[in-house]
Amino acid sequence: MSARVALGGAIVIAAASVAAVGCVSPIPNPGAAHVNAASTVYPGTTVEELREGRSLYVAKCAGCHQLYLPSHLAPARWPASVSEMRERAAISEAHEKMISKYLVAAALVGAAGD
Ligand code: HEC
Repeated sequence: MSARVALGGAIVIAAASVAAVGCVSPIPNPGAAHVNAASTVYPGTTVEELREGRSLYVAKCAGCHQLYLPSHLAPARWPASVSEMRERAAISEAHEKMISKYLVAAALVGAAGD
């Protein structure tokens, strides 16, 4: 009886740690803080645009190197860096712009100590 209880406990702990790893992404999901930050540089930015920018970043920019954290560069330096990577990543200018907006917003929020 006590062995079964101990086994059950181990399974619960294992499941909980898998869930915890799955939830923690180093590439932040855009929220209200990101929309506010982006709007200071790109007026009218929506959370949908930022979500799309994040998806594109994850999908298009991890082929050659690990995804750099938004905090890797100062906010103002991201657009030039993404522009430099555009040909390598074979993305359109529209997609480049969305990835830039996302990274600038996330870097701004990071820089604010969030
Ligand atoms: C075809 C390969 C390839 C793809 C795809 C690619 N990169 Fe890179 N990236 C590189 C290489 C090689 C370097 C390092 C050498 C260099 O900086 O030129 C690099 C460096 C970087 C750096 C570091 C610059 C620094 O100053 O520390 C950033 C940031 C970056 N890439 C962002 C991106 C983004 C954003 C995308 C998607 C739009 C992307 N990369 C897609 C090859 C790629």
